[in-house]
Amino acid sequence: MQTATIKAESIKSEPIRFERFMAARDAELQERILAAKARLGKRLVILGHHYQQESVYRHADYTGDSLKLSRYAGETDAEFIVFLGVHFMAEVADILSRPDQIAILPDLAAGCSMADMANLAKVERSRRELSKVLDFDATITPVTYINSAADLKAFCGEHGGIVCTSTNAPKIIEWAFAQREKVLFFPDQNLGRWSGYKMGIPLEQMPVWNPDQPMGGLTEEQIRNAKILLWKGHCAVHQMFREQNITRFRAEHPDGLVISHPESPFEVCLNSDYVGSTEYILKTVSEAPSGTKWLVGTELNLVNRLAEKMKPEGKLVQFMSHVICECSTMARIDPQHLAWTLENLVEGNIVNQIKVPDAEARLAKLTLDRMLEAS
Ligand code: 13P
Ligand code: SF4
Repeated sequence: MQTATIKAESIKSEPIRFERFMAARDAELQERILAAKARLGKRLVILGHHYQQESVYRHADYTGDSLKLSRYAGETDAEFIVFLGVHFMAEVADILSRPDQIAILPDLAAGCSMADMANLAKVERSRRELSKVLDFDATITPVTYINSAADLKAFCGEHGGIVCTSTNAPKIIEWAFAQREKVLFFPDQNLGRWSGYKMGIPLEQMPVWNPDQPMGGLTEEQIRNAKILLWKGHCAVHQMFREQNITRFRAEHPDGLVISHPESPFEVCLNSDYVGSTEYILKTVSEAPSGTKWLVGTELNLVNRLAEKMKPEGKLVQFMSHVICECSTMARIDPQHLAWTLENLVEGNIVNQIKVPDAEARLAKLTLDRMLEAS
């Protein structure tokens, strides 16, 4: 575990070891989390993504999708921002908050497997290869999904690009086209394809760029003809959803409605009644008339929580897959790690701080600010 200390004068002890929390019972941990939160008061804010398990989600001061939580991170005055989410989200919190604020991820192993499908070396190599066919910086706007490492956001900052989220992707891609004629979109091909399709771009002008093949596996003609080059990346959780799941649901519930996250496969989005971010999904189903029936294509924790919440209104909320699609990295944030993090803060120790190097953070902030302005 990474540890750091606050100011020398405020250190009261050595960091408390995580091992001491591993065997603690859930009910005890819940009380300890509440007690630590109360001790830290306004010095602490806890931001929670909708995919978090209920045992930690309930402790979040603010919940939201990536866009909403980014805004909170940039607005809060709290000294400590504890992120119940995954690594890139805590990085964004660090980048958008003031230098004296501290972003913390309770378990450093909480990454995003989709974000890991693109890295700086591969993106730089793709830029070099594309430069053999066209002038990259004059022709292509790089757009990175917020689900990406900070150095990729910095790459976009350096090359006139921008960041997008699942909420604002079409608007951001429009911004990108206003700068240059083509877009390189990474790392999620599904979000890029769905957004491009909604903007009226033909599928054949959105070829998949495979970074592990020479020239992305494309011909020179395909590259010249492309409007959006879609990075070969996807979310392992959302790719489990299938068009057949929708067909079956519609057969059982002809009056039912289908709502999906845009990280889902293209055919799933195409056959859904609504497509949008986690926040959009929650809002749409919550505001729907009582008695309505929903098939929801996004992560299991969100769907289970929504199903429970909607029961008193007589709404049926069904998960899209018969296979359990939980985001296993999000699930790494558990009451043990949260209690460990907070009790250390109470004792004056910072554990698991997420700190993006200054030069990288400056460039990444440029693209995040561009996004917040454009959306
Ligand atoms: P949202 O921004 O819609 O919450 O999505 C984040 C994410 O990781 C979905 O898998
Ligand atoms: Fe990443 Fe998919 Fe998990 Fe979202 S659900 S954090 S995209 S692995």
